[in-house]
Amino acid sequence: MGEAEQEREEWNRRYGRGEHLERDPSPFLVKAYGRFVAPRFPVGGTALDIAGGIGRHAIWLAQRGWKVTLVDISDVGVAMALEEARRAGVSIHGEAADLRIYDFGRHRFDLILVFYFLERTIFPALADALKPGGLILYKTYTREHRKFRACSHPMYFLEPGELRGAFPGFEVLRYAERGGMAELVARKP
Ligand SMILES: C[S@@+](CC[C@H](N)C(=O)[O-])C[C@H]1O[C@@H](n2cnc3c(N)ncnc32)[C@H](O)[C@@H]1O
Repeated sequence: MGEAEQEREEWNRRYGRGEHLERDPSPFLVKAYGRFVAPRFPVGGTALDIAGGIGRHAIWLAQRGWKVTLVDISDVGVAMALEEARRAGVSIHGEAADLRIYDFGRHRFDLILVFYFLERTIFPALADALKPGGLILYKTYTREHRKFRACSHPMYFLEPGELRGAFPGFEVLRYAERGGMAELVARKP
């Protein structure tokens, strides 16, 4: 079994066991949306939620008028997201795919969300996929996090300060790092 298949199986098992089923949006998304996204995109736009899991953020955005694509390696997670969206009365586009080989396209999205996922090789593709003036909201663990809590799954960790400079040329609207987490809101020029 290849690396992608193993990862898919592992996440399918987790979702099947009822793990990682958080349905409320991250408070960081809610705050950053009010402060940085809504003022720039008052009627929504096109959004990409990468490694979006069971869709808590994709659905939250769809409820605010966004046209959202969720991509995740777990077909179980994507199916749960689509079902959850249906129950919530909104529509999202879901794709089960390995982001390391995904074709993000160019200038397609006004907003990209990345929560609790790190694959540095796709940073340039994420930058390309944003339209000029588009925003990226990114939150994940830093190396500091390992000091606090053993992580049972193969998650990569950001170096301190790394996320701030991950998208060269972007305007950093907000950056914070504490408690083993880094949060970034950045705008493509
Ligand atoms: C910790 S969960 C985060 C889910 C979601 N972003 C959230 O905050 O609720 C990490 C997600 O990354 C997905 N994932 C892991 N490796 C992936 C890959 N190579 N391509 C796409 N998705 C991947 C997993 O299936 C899982 O849904």
